Amino acid sequence: MTSPISSPFNLNFPQYLLTPLVVGISALSCFAKVDFNQEIRPILSDKCYKCHGPDAKNQKSDFRLDSYEQATTNHDGVIGLTPGNLEDSEIHWRIHSDDPIDVMPPPESKLPLTAKEKKLIDQWIKEGGKYEKHWSFQPCQSRWNSQNQIMPTRRMKLTILLPGAFPILH
Ligand code: HEC
Repeated sequence: MTSPISSPFNLNFPQYLLTPLVVGISALSCFAKVDFNQEIRPILSDKCYKCHGPDAKNQKSDFRLDSYEQATTNHDGVIGLTPGNLEDSEIHWRIHSDDPIDVMPPPESKLPLTAKEKKLIDQWIKEGGKYEKHWSFQPCQSRWNSQNQIMPTRRMKLTILLPGAFPILH
């Protein structure tokens, strides 16, 4: 007679759910941070690149936002993007300014940012203001490694769940 306990992992939890769960959690870990390609690049290119992008014919500002190197360049003591530091990032002050002279984008451009877009930009600055390559050139795994910041709790969950998936995977 076979033992009723066929596997040490045979809890009441249906095992066919484990694989989707593990895959789901890995995917969540990958996208937990603000995603430059999905969330930030579209805002910058729609609302800022017109004047601060590669083809900007903007004589009034040397400030370019289309690469990390340019966004973090010091222009006479003003730095647009200081990774991880909102206070020292001019972008942060300009997008939240109430002064029509300072606020970005300028009111006459009729490209106002929504509250959600401002929040996302702030979050992106706080998380290091990284410019990722286009997603199709960047596998999830390498982005994960490059950020090198897996939350310990998620890692712990994965460690607990992965052995549970083994009986189905093998
Ligand atoms: C219609 C053109 C236009 C758009 C669109 C625009 N800007 Fe600007 N921006 C300017 C001009 C002109 C200046 C220089 C004058 C000034 O400092 O206000 C400037 C200056 C800035 C500065 C200060 C740079 C420095 O070195 O002093 C920052 C930061 C900035 N913009 C961020 C943004 C961001 C972020 C967006 C998009 C959310 C944006 N801008 C959209 C025209 C624009």
